[in-house]
Amino acid sequence: MRLAVISDIHSNLEAFQAVMDDISKLSIDDTVSLGDNIGYGAQPEEIIENLKHYSITSVLGNHELALLDSDYLKTFGPFARKALKINKKKLSDKAIRYIATLQPFLVRYGCRFVHGMPPDIVTRYIFNESKQRIIKTITRFKQKITFVGHTHQLVIYELDQGILKKKKLLKCRLSLAKSSRYIINTGSVGQPRDSYNEAKYVIWDSDRYTIESRFVPYDHNNAAKKIKKAGIPRQYAYILKKSINEEN
Ligand SMILES: [Fe+2]
Repeated sequence: MRLAVISDIHSNLEAFQAVMDDISKLSIDDTVSLGDNIGYGAQPEEIIENLKHYSITSVLGNHELALLDSDYLKTFGPFARKALKINKKKLSDKAIRYIATLQPFLVRYGCRFVHGMPPDIVTRYIFNESKQRIIKTITRFKQKITFVGHTHQLVIYELDQGILKKKKLLKCRLSLAKSSRYIINTGSVGQPRDSYNEAKYVIWDSDRYTIESRFVPYDHNNAAKKIKKAGIPRQYAYILKKSINEEN
């Protein structure tokens, strides 16, 4: 079984379409979204429509939570809050009702899916957690593989004989050990925080027991233009163009 795990699309339709085109060429059996389908970008309604169109199950992200919970929205910085308020205006009642059905975690194909931190925390960043806490957490439930989003970074955590190892998961395919436990942080489809301007996602192959990170180029200039046109704070447009290749 080959599963695509996507996360943090953030209303970026160009990035999402490029990822779905990539997925369509790679014999993928199912796709799961780790949430933050909305926020920052310009086309939340189209993203929700496409999640349904492609029958992609999503868990709840913190931007969906902020859309539904005005007290939690107050914890956002002013720019992210403004972007989300503009997103909310663009969403139909039907799309908001769909967002309200999203659950904080999912167990499927023997794996766990959560936006922030397992077992089921939507709002916590895994990179802020101590090694001891991660070890304690991932030995508390049955699933050996957990997928998380939220940080917009591609990282794999492996717990092997009581020792937690962490490494970046950049443009590679890794064979996993059946005796280890893993947390796989899948990167962001539509709002990079890692200085690579491609859309990122991962493929889990349960037969080969491999994880592959995918970097998909897309028309980020067009996505950035739409963000500016929508009146969304411009830094969310500029970050789409930023690339480590251009910096070097
Ligand atoms: Fe996010």
